[in-house]
Amino acid sequence: MRKKIVAGNWKMNLTLDEGHQLVAGIVKNLPELNSDRQVVIAPPFINIQHTFYQVEDTPNIFIGAQNCHSEDEGAYTGEISAAMLKNAGAEYVIIGHSERREYFNETDALLAKKTDRALDNGLKVIFCCGESLDVRDAGTQNEFVEAQLKAGLFHLHKHQLVNVVIAYEPIWAIGTGRTASAQQAQDMHAHIRKVVAEQYGQAPADNMTILYGGSCKPSNAAELFACADVDGGLIGGASLKAADFTGIIDAMIKA
Ligand code: 13P
Repeated sequence: MRKKIVAGNWKMNLTLDEGHQLVAGIVKNLPELNSDRQVVIAPPFINIQHTFYQVEDTPNIFIGAQNCHSEDEGAYTGEISAAMLKNAGAEYVIIGHSERREYFNETDALLAKKTDRALDNGLKVIFCCGESLDVRDAGTQNEFVEAQLKAGLFHLHKHQLVNVVIAYEPIWAIGTGRTASAQQAQDMHAHIRKVVAEQYGQAPADNMTILYGGSCKPSNAAELFACADVDGGLIGGASLKAADFTGIIDAMIKA
């Protein structure tokens, strides 16, 4: 059964106190979620355990991390392992966000290793893909995203896919206020599902949750989530305000 998910990626925003207030506001107003509807909150590493304690008694709301290291442990000063995240209460980890690919030079090969470490340690992966404006303008976005998935994800075995969510985040729509149209999102999501089906078969593709990310907000969430292949959103800016995030969760519940 394909799940619908709204995940909030706080990026490098909010102190522990600010995060506490935000999560308190989200939990207070959270409508009841069936098991096929999930909310994920991905705060900075330092908030993870605290945020976990805030939500652990609320069904179907989970904690995500925004990154993890590609090795299990060792002399990697300043880094955080998948096992540490799991032990602190994380259920998900975002891998391959365009900001990490661009600012931290994360390559497809590294992301494939991170994906393995995360899954090995019992985390679920939200694997991000998405093209730049140049690629979109050249009309080669389908091939570009397909190559990202092949390089970062398609070494996995079929049985591992139940623990993978794909997030399509066109770079030109992230933090720009310029959302992909519902048709653009649907077209890419359908393409991603087709590519997954070609690699793994129709059933894993049909069960795959594919999220849209990029300037998603309460005013456009319903239209995006109404698309047949859009199963929710990965939310940046609008996840930092309880009312906005709750509005997007409402749209996901009604979709
Ligand atoms: P915005 O919602 O701020 O555009 O960010 C999207 C994103 O990058 C989520 O990971």
